[in-house]
Amino acid sequence: MFAYNLDHVALAVHDLDAAIDDYRRLFGGEPLHREVIEEQGVEEAMIAVGGSFVQLLRPLSEDTPVGRFLATRGEGLHHIALAVADIEGALEHLVRQGARLVDREPRIGGRGARIAFVHPRAFAGTLVELVESHS
Ligand code: CO
Repeated sequence: MFAYNLDHVALAVHDLDAAIDDYRRLFGGEPLHREVIEEQGVEEAMIAVGGSFVQLLRPLSEDTPVGRFLATRGEGLHHIALAVADIEGALEHLVRQGARLVDREPRIGGRGARIAFVHPRAFAGTLVELVESHS
């Protein structure tokens, strides 16, 4: 089996600055990284929480996956991200287990990491992102 670590929990938000302010006021902590990812149609901010991160996602427009998510489900949990050393191997394993994938091949996400999404139908109705760890 593969060793997975919780990399981040991602929340969809309407207003990234307001969400960062709320987090800072309530829990303390500053975003370590902020980036627009045009390909995914989001601006993201990563806030370190212990050894993991909270990722805040703001859609760049309504006509993006996160924009449509916000329109139908409102703000809140969008996905969880699991770090794994061998992302191709993990995807192969998931396919063999019958999991439906969003991405059959890894692509480049925030911070230049190789990522792939697993369909929410595979696990508890929750979108799961695999992130290849650099260790
Ligand atoms: Co993510």
